[in-house]
Amino acid sequence: MKNNYFLKLTARLLVLLMAVPMLSVAQNDLFKAETEIKINELIRQMSLAEKVNMIHASSPFTSGGVARLGIPEFITSDGPHGVRAEHGRDWELDNNIPDSGTYLPVGVCLAATWNKELGYEFGRVLGSEANYRGKDIILGPGINIIRSPLNGRNFEYLSEDPILVSKMAVGSIKGIQDQGISCCVKHFVANNQETRRNTIDVQMSERALREIYLPGFKAAVQLGGANTVMSAYNKFRGQWASHSHYLLNSILKKEWVFKGVVISDWNAVHATPEPLWNGLDLEMGTDLSMMQNRQYNKFYMADPAIKLVNEGKIPEYLIDDKVRRLLRVMYKTNMLGDLKRIQGEYNTTAHRQTALQISEEGIVLLKNENNFLPLNKKQKRTIAVIGFNADRKQSLGGGSSQVRAFYEITPLAGLQNIVGKNVTINYEPGYEVKRNGGANTELMNRAVAIASKADMVIYVGGSFHGYTHDNWSDNAYDAEDTDKPDMMLPFGQDELIKAILAVNPKMVVVMVGGGAMDMRLWINETPAIIQSWYAGMEGGHALARIIFGDVNPSGKLPMTFPKKLEDHPSQAMGEFPYDTSGLAVHYYDDIYVGYRYYDTWKVVPEFAFGHGLSYTNFEYSNLNILNENAKVTISFTIKNTGKLAGAEIAQVYVKPYQSVLPRPEKELKEFDKVYLEPGAFKTVTLQLTNDDFSYFDDLKNTWVMDPGKYGILVGASSRDIKLSGMLSR
Ligand code: GLC
Repeated sequence: MKNNYFLKLTARLLVLLMAVPMLSVAQNDLFKAETEIKINELIRQMSLAEKVNMIHASSPFTSGGVARLGIPEFITSDGPHGVRAEHGRDWELDNNIPDSGTYLPVGVCLAATWNKELGYEFGRVLGSEANYRGKDIILGPGINIIRSPLNGRNFEYLSEDPILVSKMAVGSIKGIQDQGISCCVKHFVANNQETRRNTIDVQMSERALREIYLPGFKAAVQLGGANTVMSAYNKFRGQWASHSHYLLNSILKKEWVFKGVVISDWNAVHATPEPLWNGLDLEMGTDLSMMQNRQYNKFYMADPAIKLVNEGKIPEYLIDDKVRRLLRVMYKTNMLGDLKRIQGEYNTTAHRQTALQISEEGIVLLKNENNFLPLNKKQKRTIAVIGFNADRKQSLGGGSSQVRAFYEITPLAGLQNIVGKNVTINYEPGYEVKRNGGANTELMNRAVAIASKADMVIYVGGSFHGYTHDNWSDNAYDAEDTDKPDMMLPFGQDELIKAILAVNPKMVVVMVGGGAMDMRLWINETPAIIQSWYAGMEGGHALARIIFGDVNPSGKLPMTFPKKLEDHPSQAMGEFPYDTSGLAVHYYDDIYVGYRYYDTWKVVPEFAFGHGLSYTNFEYSNLNILNENAKVTISFTIKNTGKLAGAEIAQVYVKPYQSVLPRPEKELKEFDKVYLEPGAFKTVTLQLTNDDFSYFDDLKNTWVMDPGKYGILVGASSRDIKLSGMLSR
């Protein structure tokens, strides 16, 4: 019986192979067709219990396989900027295995490089190390839009702008998946805050959804080819994102033709019939108590699903589709089939070099009055390094994205390593970490004392990433499951900075963190300010090389830094973190996220989206616009008019002069990063399509491009426009 079945299968395959020229299918479609046949054959052999075993967790970070048929478990691991330390099958941290990894700079630092190729390299390292550690799915990148500066997880994400998110996410996804494993782009959708993340109901217009919150995920799936997508904790328009027919079936699987797997966030499933019907394929992490008691059969998509199928309330083909998607990803990543997965690498020099390059290109020089920087390391002097974050290792902070780094060069270590005997470095923490704690007088006095005797001061403060593996959100300002209470510097830092400036105004302030903090109390007296994010295992070296001029900074802000929280659109127009009911949050800021708000409502930010300084200067000229039916070709010249080699990120914004519906003053549509020797110049050519002039008309429920005049603005930031032209579409 079995033999002639396989004869028939072989015959069908031969027919298919012979039919190739006529069918003119692409090679991978042939592979897909062949795979689909194998997948159907496996499903045909599986019992209902075996199928259901595949659609829920089998341990904290694995999902069920079918050993009888040679179908392995999926092995997943966090996170977006490094492979997380091992949590065994009992959710406990395994402390006795070699699970250190390359600790890459966090997402916002990668985005601040505006370097699409570096996005791919970032993904390559992450995928290679996940592969080496035996993971099939790495739970990243996190690409939620940075809607509020208070969101505790902004550090893990990329930007306030959907185009920058899209271009950087696609690169890293391809980098990960070219290593033979799957990414898991997250959190789909509208997980833009941590406050009540498990219960909050996000309400937004279709226009905001289509123009701001979906594009990154659409690019991840359609351009990046993401194999898996993680559904978010929050509700969306009254339904759990992990149960949402609109998000998962209508948009992701039908409109975008996503053929991969939707994985729930951990403990994000709340019932049985809906997720089965509405497009969820794999339930992870439900009810910690079940996991700790290993009661995986009690998950919503486990025994309860079997019961509903046996009662005829859920058709078995729904389960089959989920299993088909899971098997498809297994074949794509050589977990099944004849091909073997490539061998990953671990803690290599190349990986560490990539981490260094990303931090060097992602750290942003915000202010540099009278060329205060770079410093001359040959000059004999005493430098006071002050600040808790100067000597703080960050890799274990932040929550599920934590990494047990092979090593981590702190800012203080980086500075000590780079200076020679001419420079004496003295260090004081200056403040202590204590939630709602004010300035610590004794620590402040010690800091002021070394500042008063020093030639200059390097202050390294800012936000706080939380403690260790377990109580990651303890005291944290940048961590999962917590949002900042405000934009003020914590632990009495404002008082400390002012006290230091009073005795020594020659100070550079380095802000560690995931985004904007309120600098108003001291910014005017501070000659130089650097945003260093959480810059990964080589971050201290990168910072030191920038401060002492071995590296010319080129990073630019991937989000706007407002002067104060009240200026931010999520506060000024929208709701954050929830409405008076405490159950919902209304995105009344709508499409006006970040610079789309500041530039339209003429609110001056502290530092603009796309802002970042260099130690050299660039000149823009010769804007040329070729306006054709299907595309617009923009070209312009950038010249390095300074004495140092450097890189410039040129941004192209479209400014609609008329539209049926209101539109932002400008929208980023393209960008390029150009590396130039002193005196050198380059002509940059970028192309726009009609999509770049369109907006989503939620009255007509479709994308439209209004005929009329449009401005093409070429800028060094959203507010530093160097060239502009006009065209009609
Ligand atoms: C967490 C996070 C998600 C992470 C998952 C597994 O709660 O929201 O980003 O990948 O659970 O740790």
